[in-house]
Amino acid sequence: MRDFDVIVFGATSFVGQIIARYLATHYSHQDNVKWALAGRNQDKLQNIVKALPSKHNTKPSLIIADVNDNASLIALCKRAKVVLSTVGPYAQFGEPVVRACIECDTSYVDLTGEPQWIKAMLDLYSKAASESQAKLVNSCGFDSIPSDLGVYFLQQQSQLRFNKPCTNVAMRVRRIRGGASGGTIASMLQLVEEMGRDKSLRKKLANPYVLCPNNHRMSVRQPNIKKACFDDHTQRWIAPFIMAAINTRIVHRSNALLGNAYTDHFTYEEALVTGKDTKGAMTGWMTTFGLGGFMVAASVKPLRGLMEKYWLPKPGEGPSEKAQQEGFFDIYFYGKTDEGDTLTVRVTGDKDPGYGSTAQMIAEAAIKLAKSEKLQALPGGFYTPASCFKDALFGPLQEHAGLTFEEVTHTVAKTKVKST
Ligand SMILES: NC(=O)c1ccc[n+]([C@@H]2O[C@H](COP(=O)([O-])OP(=O)(O)OC[C@H]3O[C@@H](n4cnc5c(N)ncnc54)[C@H](OP(=O)(O)O)[C@@H]3O)[C@@H](O)[C@H]2O)c1
Repeated sequence: MRDFDVIVFGATSFVGQIIARYLATHYSHQDNVKWALAGRNQDKLQNIVKALPSKHNTKPSLIIADVNDNASLIALCKRAKVVLSTVGPYAQFGEPVVRACIECDTSYVDLTGEPQWIKAMLDLYSKAASESQAKLVNSCGFDSIPSDLGVYFLQQQSQLRFNKPCTNVAMRVRRIRGGASGGTIASMLQLVEEMGRDKSLRKKLANPYVLCPNNHRMSVRQPNIKKACFDDHTQRWIAPFIMAAINTRIVHRSNALLGNAYTDHFTYEEALVTGKDTKGAMTGWMTTFGLGGFMVAASVKPLRGLMEKYWLPKPGEGPSEKAQQEGFFDIYFYGKTDEGDTLTVRVTGDKDPGYGSTAQMIAEAAIKLAKSEKLQALPGGFYTPASCFKDALFGPLQEHAGLTFEEVTHTVAKTKVKST
């Protein structure tokens, strides 16, 4: 028995505050969901609670814990079925939380988009996690729930329509509106800094299967959109999508953890649609050079310092409430089987991807993990959203978190139609 179903650790973070507001608006003890807020600073936590709406006039409990104080983390983990951590950059602050959760048999969800950190945690703690009852699910925000569950949904539809999986899937971000927070930028800069220090890291992370267990059996070369080009799927220009670096790794790990359910020659790529004609091409190239320029500038210390000082959001800052409400995402997945059958599915979100929508996704993921006996009975270990939740999260995400998953179209290969 634990005191709480979910404890939000890092409730003072930009995204943690949105999660707290979401929980306060939608869940209370009366709804049979017990949750609490945790952080290292009592005053900050109290100010957040003061500003919270309250569904049944109840205030959440507060717990003080610091990643530098292991005893406080153990005390926190012992009280929760699931710890939802937003304390990032995870490569800087995440490890003690993971270790404490494993030690206390407490499940865990996070928002990391840092593949190098996930890899480090897998290498260090996979064995201990598998011997515990802790289910640890990384990347439960915009990276990588829409991609990971989008592909899982597509494969379910593929089985339904064609009795086989799609072996090639291309994800296209058709429309998106949102911004970045200080924490997200700090996590990106942390990765650039680590790659500058450790030259082998770039090569390691270039491996699309870097997060797969050693026995994954996949060796097929993966497509990788590195610059603007014209896209056959959408008949529009596309450019590299910044989140592909984490999403593609998570999707391949899901395939491996699901026993190569998408086959051992499955290919997956992501790109951002930039538009039609000359304008689309120009936007595509501007996006390509903008991304490249940002990465170069971020790797040069004085330039990074200037960007941090004058341009980039600071920790605790992020898109306004209005920007969150007006934000959205609309992404398509184009699948193809070995025989040439095609299937398109669509995933949408009703708020800005990184914060409004991310807060809703991770809150629902944490609640589902805490409340589902089936999920609690899973063996301990590190999971991806798809390999942990399978189809259990489609309901909560669509009913409460403003996401939609739908099939757009499918076609059966002509050769097959003739032969039947
Ligand atoms: N996957 C996604 O789609 C997605 C979306 C959004 C964000 N993220 C990630 O989520 C993370 C949070 O982002 P954010 O912008 O909300 O971050 P943020 O505002 O910078 O907040 C960082 C949090 O870490 C806490 N913290 C720092 N040191 C700590 C310590 N020693 N002990 C306990 N807590 C400590 C801070 O507490 P104080 O307030 O006391 O300083 C604060 O709550 C980042 O890693 C970001 O990349 C991912």
